[in-house]
Amino acid sequence: MNQYVNVTNADTPMRDGTIKLHGPEGFEGMRKAGQLAASVLDALAPFVVEGVTTAEIDAKARELMIAGGGIPATLGYRGFTHSCCTSINHVVCHGIPADRKLKDGDIINVDVTPILDGWHGDTSRMYLIGDVGVKARRLVDVTYECLMLGIEQARPGNRMGDVAHAIQAFAEKHRYGVVRDFCGHGLGRLFHDAPEVVHAGRPGTGPELKPGMFFTIEPMINIGKPAVKMLEDGWTAVTRDRSLSAQFEHSIGITETGCEIFTKSPAGLDRPPY
Ligand code: MF3
Ligand code: CO
Ligand code: CO
Repeated sequence: MNQYVNVTNADTPMRDGTIKLHGPEGFEGMRKAGQLAASVLDALAPFVVEGVTTAEIDAKARELMIAGGGIPATLGYRGFTHSCCTSINHVVCHGIPADRKLKDGDIINVDVTPILDGWHGDTSRMYLIGDVGVKARRLVDVTYECLMLGIEQARPGNRMGDVAHAIQAFAEKHRYGVVRDFCGHGLGRLFHDAPEVVHAGRPGTGPELKPGMFFTIEPMINIGKPAVKMLEDGWTAVTRDRSLSAQFEHSIGITETGCEIFTKSPAGLDRPPY
């Protein structure tokens, strides 16, 4: 069976392991969903400050997604009951919004996925709270560079391993650990679809990238070792060694010549300082 399948907007989305190749309608849908997602993170920037709780960020994120005509994909997703993920300091990903107040020196990832007209725009950024130490700031900067170096490799003819290798090489040059337990993913009319997008790997390996493929790249980088531990709540992933972790995420589409970043910030706020 063919690993790749051409799809149209009218097709019923199925999680059947095939890698979907989308046409212009898909690009248009993802552009709109991605821009809504990015504008939600833009609008959150002045709000993600010392003293605010992650539950308040969640409420604001939900409000912004709904005001933009979208609905939060995470709300009710596999039992997750919030509109975004808020991952502070040593939390790697999937932090659950709660009554924890942000404090001076925290670093936090906010990850949003609005569904707009059936398309998923999935993106996350780091926010720095007040006076953040130089080690944490450097981690955040390197993690953003990792994402962009991965995106640079996202073009027809390259393979997923080329994306992974670019990310891993840069992270490890800084003696950071690349998380293996969570990956990027295909998306579109489905939230999580094939292919799996690993963030560490060998060049020339994995699925070939073809025009019309939509997927996220979302490296999680730790100051310490890559190993992750799940908390009792079944969602929150933390670094085993309690070292700080950072993540950035974009949703992209492979074009004839390279890729389009659907979730680029309309306000130019892709990375801190905002
Ligand atoms: N947005 C996350 C991702 O990048 C997924 C969150 S699923 C949730 O894939 F249920 F934890 F919200
Ligand atoms: Co994602
Ligand atoms: Co996400």
